[in-house]
Amino acid sequence: GDVSTLEATVRVPMNIALVKYWGKRDEQLIIPLNDSISLTVDRLRAETTVRMIQGAGEHAVISTTNFPVAAGLASSAAGFAAIALAIQRILNLDDVQANRLARIGSGSACRSMFGGLVQWEKGEKADGSDCVAKRIGTETWPDLYCVILVFDDGRKKVGSSEGMRRTAQTSTLLQSRIEKVVPQRIEEIKTAFAAKDFAALARVIMADSNQFHAVCLDTSPPIRYLNDASWHLIELVEKFNENEIRAAYTFDAGPNACVLLEATSDVEELSDLADIIRPLTACGGDRSLSYLQCV
Ligand code: PMV
Repeated sequence: GDVSTLEATVRVPMNIALVKYWGKRDEQLIIPLNDSISLTVDRLRAETTVRMIQGAGEHAVISTTNFPVAAGLASSAAGFAAIALAIQRILNLDDVQANRLARIGSGSACRSMFGGLVQWEKGEKADGSDCVAKRIGTETWPDLYCVILVFDDGRKKVGSSEGMRRTAQTSTLLQSRIEKVVPQRIEEIKTAFAAKDFAALARVIMADSNQFHAVCLDTSPPIRYLNDASWHLIELVEKFNENEIRAAYTFDAGPNACVLLEATSDVEELSDLADIIRPLTACGGDRSLSYLQCV
């Protein structure tokens, strides 16, 4: 018969949430309870080949990433965004359709389809038609770097879907976070990014990471994603920032850290960070240190 093969290979970067998405308004359509905002990390990529065999009623997806999968490093995000972009190419979908496709795979994936600072708007409509990710401005911040610290590359204990469901059902903190905290923080991130105000950006990033993990603890049964190495890093960065805020940590649904810093003082910063790594190794972290340009 008429069996033809269409193939597309794309490489898509991961994104790191600066204000976290946690909780779904619609589990089928993957509509979030709150807006979130992220930064695309250019050098951590998922490569995906999608092969469609027309007429044979099947398709194949081959996906690889250069970073740990399901360890709370938003790797599924880059993977699903890559699948969506490959399908977009094969089927000539428009950007909104492709964005929706990525979102269905993994919510945060819809933020990986753009570079720079990206906001995922929850929208208001029941059908999710106004639930889209958008790049904020055209600004880049070439001096902004991120260091990824892999403390555990195993799979996460509680997957994000299960964790979100549990938190939405049991946490009393979540509602006030969504209503009173997140909208203001998104604006603060945008303002700080536009002004390249690192200290202001860092304050919001760390506060939001901490609140996300507090909301996880406020879940029944409680969810604990951070381990001793994560906590050690938090304490070291806080100490490192005592006189001037020069680094910001953030953690997703796992113990691995993303530390953001500016390259202006990178020699000094990096050697200080190297000192940070050693004690971490003592509490179960490994040496994985990559110094990556964000945008
Ligand atoms: O996209 P999901 O379903 O894996 O959820 C991601 C949730 C966090 O990474 C914890 C936060 C975020 O906004 O990426």
